[in-house]
Amino acid sequence: MEDPGIGESILFQPLKIGKLEVAGRVFKAATSETRATEDGLVTEELLEFYEPIARAGTPLIITGNMWVHRGGRSTARQVGVDHDDKIPGLRRWAELTHRHGSRIFAQLNHCGRQVIPEAMGMDHALSASNVKELSLGTKPRPMTLVEIREVVAAFGAAAWRCKEAGFDGVQIHAAHGYLVSQFLTPHTNRRKDDYGGSFENRLRLLMEIYRATRDRVGSDFPVIIKLNGSDSLPLRKGLKPDELVEIALAMEKAGLDGVEVSIGHYESGMPVVRGTFGRFFRGVMSDGTGHQLSTFRRLAMRIGWPLFALVFNLLWWHYQGFNLKYARRFKKHLSMPVISVGGFRTRQKMEEAIADGLCDAVSCARSMVADPLLYEHLQTGETGPRCVFCNACIARVGGQPVDCYHPEVRAAKDRLLA
Ligand SMILES: Cc1cc2nc3c(=O)[nH]c(=O)nc-3n(C[C@H](O)[C@H](O)[C@H](O)COP(=O)(O)O)c2cc1C
Repeated sequence: MEDPGIGESILFQPLKIGKLEVAGRVFKAATSETRATEDGLVTEELLEFYEPIARAGTPLIITGNMWVHRGGRSTARQVGVDHDDKIPGLRRWAELTHRHGSRIFAQLNHCGRQVIPEAMGMDHALSASNVKELSLGTKPRPMTLVEIREVVAAFGAAAWRCKEAGFDGVQIHAAHGYLVSQFLTPHTNRRKDDYGGSFENRLRLLMEIYRATRDRVGSDFPVIIKLNGSDSLPLRKGLKPDELVEIALAMEKAGLDGVEVSIGHYESGMPVVRGTFGRFFRGVMSDGTGHQLSTFRRLAMRIGWPLFALVFNLLWWHYQGFNLKYARRFKKHLSMPVISVGGFRTRQKMEEAIADGLCDAVSCARSMVADPLLYEHLQTGETGPRCVFCNACIARVGGQPVDCYHPEVRAAKDRLLA
């Protein structure tokens, strides 16, 4: 592809998501923050993380996943949106974003079985069925119909609160093996009632959440989803790209405004964050949620981490645009915008992805943690701190405030923001 020059670059052309126009096509992807209060209220520490990303003019910021219901918290200090007392803090967050001309979508989530219930003070985790989650060792309880109705309503109410607080849209988290994903996936959904079995039944929870959300926010407010392009669950009944595209198509017909395409469940290993894993395992044990694991899992990690890291490095090595092979299939069948997340760092790779028609926009998580001014740097051509995809950041989710934890990259970031 010829260099289009910074001025004409597709990255800086506007994009419509529903009725909303965003100024460019490089978004911030969700990063769970560990920066709220224990009750899920917005803090200064959280706003400090977002200020430079907004200041850089990032066209769209997608927040870390926010719990819509207390039973849907997965780690400590996540933002909650379960009660009206959260609205003033959310409003400050939206105002900070708008002051710099950026837009912000709230990612709404319920973790289902992907939690260590005791660590969150819960009696049990909920899911579609009682299929044990292998990475954490959690055996969930199947949800009753009353609980399903409660969660559907909680998503709708949470979306309304975000709109009330001045957010520009919401993203329903239907990827990464969280609750909605657990209902979509045959491996985790063994129900025999209206929420399990057929394609329509497994889709029912997401559809009901979408409709409850739409009812509460109206037709003009953008509602998008994050969805896997593949469940990446070998030897289990995970969803394959074709069925996931079908899900997105059904949602588009129902009025959805966009889809961000990702990959994997916790149980898949690490396809969600391809990279290297030595710092990841050490970080989980020293500063992450490693201490919450069972004695057996802790011991296995303490002894086996060099081997695990070696195997993970081989299986899930990093390359830019690692979900594009899925995004392109969505793009082929959908009219709504398709956002591709996964490994992006350079202007050239981002431009190629969009110019080649594989997606309409790209989103970056780790590159923007390392370089919060990434969007500005893409525009000026300057090189900012470069993420090395070491996964020290995600290792600390639930233990330390989200940030870059690679010593040299972090030092470069701190210098940049000083
Ligand atoms: C620190 C951290 C926290 C994350 N938290 C979330 C989250 O709350 N919700 C979500 O959908 N994805 C989350 N992710 C996954 C990212 O949104 C993204 O899908 C993944 O990191 C791949 O994109 P990247 O290569 O640009 O980092 C997180 C990733 C990182 C590194």
